[in-house]
Amino acid sequence: MDIRLDGKVALVTGGGAGIGRAIAEAFAELGAKVAIAEIDGEKVEALRGDPKIGADSLVIQADARKTEDVAQMIFEIDRKYGRLDILVNNVGHHLSCFKSLDMMDEAEWDALYDYNLRHLFVVTKAAIPLIRKGGRGGSIINISSNEGFRGYPSNVVYSAFKHAVTGLTKGLAVDLSSDAIRVNLIAPETTDTESVPLNDLIAPEYREAAERCIPLRRYGRPADHAGAAVYFAVDDLSSWVTGTSMLVDGGSGAAAGFYSLPNGHWTNAPVVEREVFNSGNI
Ligand SMILES: NC(=O)c1ccc[n+]([C@@H]2O[C@H](COP(=O)([O-])OP(=O)(O)OC[C@H]3O[C@@H](n4cnc5c(N)ncnc54)[C@H](O)[C@@H]3O)[C@@H](O)[C@H]2O)c1
Repeated sequence: MDIRLDGKVALVTGGGAGIGRAIAEAFAELGAKVAIAEIDGEKVEALRGDPKIGADSLVIQADARKTEDVAQMIFEIDRKYGRLDILVNNVGHHLSCFKSLDMMDEAEWDALYDYNLRHLFVVTKAAIPLIRKGGRGGSIINISSNEGFRGYPSNVVYSAFKHAVTGLTKGLAVDLSSDAIRVNLIAPETTDTESVPLNDLIAPEYREAAERCIPLRRYGRPADHAGAAVYFAVDDLSSWVTGTSMLVDGGSGAAAGFYSLPNGHWTNAPVVEREVFNSGNI
């Protein structure tokens, strides 16, 4: 089995940090030429010439939500490499809209839409002709969230758009199958990144307790998702896989609300001051 990406060109949106950056580095390590679209000018400067993303990489300052930026980005990739094989639609953000739906306003809905769904249309639409051009097929990888697979009361609208990414992935997988372009999705559980800085969010003394809701007993690392992206990108690994979703979540989707008690028993009982169920372990 040839787990290499030599000769392939990959574009990662939001590749300047977190999950996107880990994916870009993994692809470069496997021999791909990597293009990164990053909105933050300081990150763009820091990335240019970074050996971890390869000497022949292309780092473009672009807002994945803006049609003109995206058109320029695809133009530059075509000019430099003449091809595109892998697209990772990684941009997404909860925008800290942690409140109930009735407290949200239309501007917040629009911003969450732009950040979590609309740009997938803009970027993918622009990229398809260049992926098709080579006639060699390709791989599109959409980064969604575990919140796209359950009810998420803290930010219903973010969750709604992440659910929509599943529909987009499935429909597009069928639509592009005649071009041998595979389309799949990665759904991360809570992962330590700039937008989810776990050390700031959870006091160290509660970290172990918080991680007990995850069967594999730890939050995600960007590299966990890079592994999944490599699987979807390398034809020898996933040439017969399209339209699917991979939950990279330490098993939390499987646990579906069950969490481990300090004594190691699993429960989905509510946290109350005293035991409500007579059996002890549910
Ligand atoms: N971190 C988590 O816990 C978690 C959980 C579930 C899903 N996700 C999803 O994973 C993806 C990546 O999240 P992350 O935590 O790595 O993010 P991050 O904030 O750490 O990194 C995102 C990068 O994208 C850049 N960026 C932001 N907006 C952009 C735009 N419009 N155009 C181009 N670049 C832009 C940022 O500057 C940053 O470098 C998102 O889609 C997010 O919804 C993350």
